[in-house]
Amino acid sequence: MEMPEKYVKANAMPRRDVLDIIEEFSPELSQIQDKCIDIGSGSGDITKDLLLPLLPHDVEVVGADISQAMVNYARKNNSKERLSYIVLDIEGKMPNEQIGQYDCVTSFYCLHWPYDLSHAFENIFKLLRPNGKGLVMFLGYHCLFEAYMRISQNPRYEFYLQDAHRYVPHFQRKMCKNMRASLREMLEDIGFEILHCSKRENSYQYNNQSFRDYIISVNPFINQIPDDMKDEFMDNLISEILNQDVSTPFSNKNDELILKYYLLIAYVKKPQSAT
Ligand SMILES: C[S@@+](CC[C@H](N)C(=O)[O-])C[C@H]1O[C@@H](n2cnc3c(N)ncnc32)[C@H](O)[C@@H]1O
Repeated sequence: MEMPEKYVKANAMPRRDVLDIIEEFSPELSQIQDKCIDIGSGSGDITKDLLLPLLPHDVEVVGADISQAMVNYARKNNSKERLSYIVLDIEGKMPNEQIGQYDCVTSFYCLHWPYDLSHAFENIFKLLRPNGKGLVMFLGYHCLFEAYMRISQNPRYEFYLQDAHRYVPHFQRKMCKNMRASLREMLEDIGFEILHCSKRENSYQYNNQSFRDYIISVNPFINQIPDDMKDEFMDNLISEILNQDVSTPFSNKNDELILKYYLLIAYVKKPQSAT
């Protein structure tokens, strides 16, 4: 994701969902001390507007993102006292100076991106201090990712989407029957204590333009598609979403598109005894 300006204009759906979760967990977040890192902070507006105000006033927040473009945008537009931004790949090797530094790790609408989700959670475990908490929310299933796989088989686009499967969220790619149980098992295997783990069905109503804007802003392939093919690619991608069979959850009436999707939410603790 390298288009912060577009994402900020199109992110009403994640913004609504993050607000819901932050409000639900506000009693827990209000107990956080000292230092919190928000993984996949993107353009930084959600970190600044929604997360920071709910944390105690002396907590320092670091927004972390794999994308230099996102971090540059966040530093320029969403910096504040006690809020800074760093480039960090949650699937990569954690820098020594970050290990064990945080009382809290949050991550909203990001952990469907890493290919190796278990490794990303191992890194979250490393970033936390003993007794530290993690609150994460990410997509478990969305028909957009199914559309990536289908359009990647179209000879016109296959060259540009050779790694399409890499962008399908972990549990969707594995066709997990019970995502919640699988997530719980993954987190327990790493050593987390589970305080909450749920799978939730959600839906969002778009008009055609707002949906197009959103899927452009989060699209990992659009920059690889030649300029003169971008519009038709988006038309075909949207058709792939709308043409999915009846078991795919969506409904489309007039200029109104209601898409269902599944979120995974976990609130976890690194045990006091962990190193
Ligand atoms: C959809 S945005 C979410 C931004 C913000 N948290 C929100 O809720 O609106 C996902 C962000 O995750 C970042 N991201 C993807 N893979 C990542 C990784 N491996 N490590 C850190 N950030 C990553 C992307 O660059 C993008 O900015």
